[in-house]
Amino acid sequence: MKPGRFITLEGGEGAGKTVNLNFIRDWLVQHAGATVRVTREPGGTAVGEDIRRLFLQQADLQPETELLLIFAARAQHLHQVIRPALARGEWVLCDRFTDASYAYQGGGRGLAQERIAYLENWLQGDLRPDLTLLLDTPPELGKARAHGRGDANRFDTETERFYVKVRQAYADRAASEPQRIQRVDASRPLPEVQQHIATLLLQWLDLL
Ligand code: TYD
Repeated sequence: MKPGRFITLEGGEGAGKTVNLNFIRDWLVQHAGATVRVTREPGGTAVGEDIRRLFLQQADLQPETELLLIFAARAQHLHQVIRPALARGEWVLCDRFTDASYAYQGGGRGLAQERIAYLENWLQGDLRPDLTLLLDTPPELGKARAHGRGDANRFDTETERFYVKVRQAYADRAASEPQRIQRVDASRPLPEVQQHIATLLLQWLDLL
């Protein structure tokens, strides 16, 4: 059996993750003939969705609490969804994963990377995404796009400064893992963004 592949989608606020997640899923089904399991973080399991509610809505969470909640949800997600699907040969397409912890809890909240790396190594072992698409937008544009969406959460009221740090942390990760993390300029019109995503996916499939 061919191994499953693990693809993650990342980005700041208003980068168009939802519409592009659907695009990527359809593209993979069509071009890779893959069974694609779409999931998200925080969430993806019953426990994870409960943690998500707490994580996104509860006021006054300490940065450390945020990080531990995220990894608690992730542990459950890895055990119940991600690893079993990959073992069955399915492709897992996940809306955010551990790069988001480095960006938000690391860059945004200022927690040390080593703390995050410790939890990552503990809970994931050597499991890392095979490919990560990073939808990059300047924070002011993302904020304008996200404005008025019905699903407001704790992060929507963060300052632009917070999102500048999140964006920088994502950029640093992309620079340190240029093979795995592919940046997409998501400030461009949607058809161009999707054309770029399709080109990146095609190049990546050729290398498999
Ligand atoms: P969501 O409504 O999915 O936001 P978005 O549409 O921007 O993806 O909420 C997820 C939020 O959780 C998002 O603001 C980023 C945050 N998050 C972290 O802070 N750390 C993490 O590890 C993950 C996975 C998400």
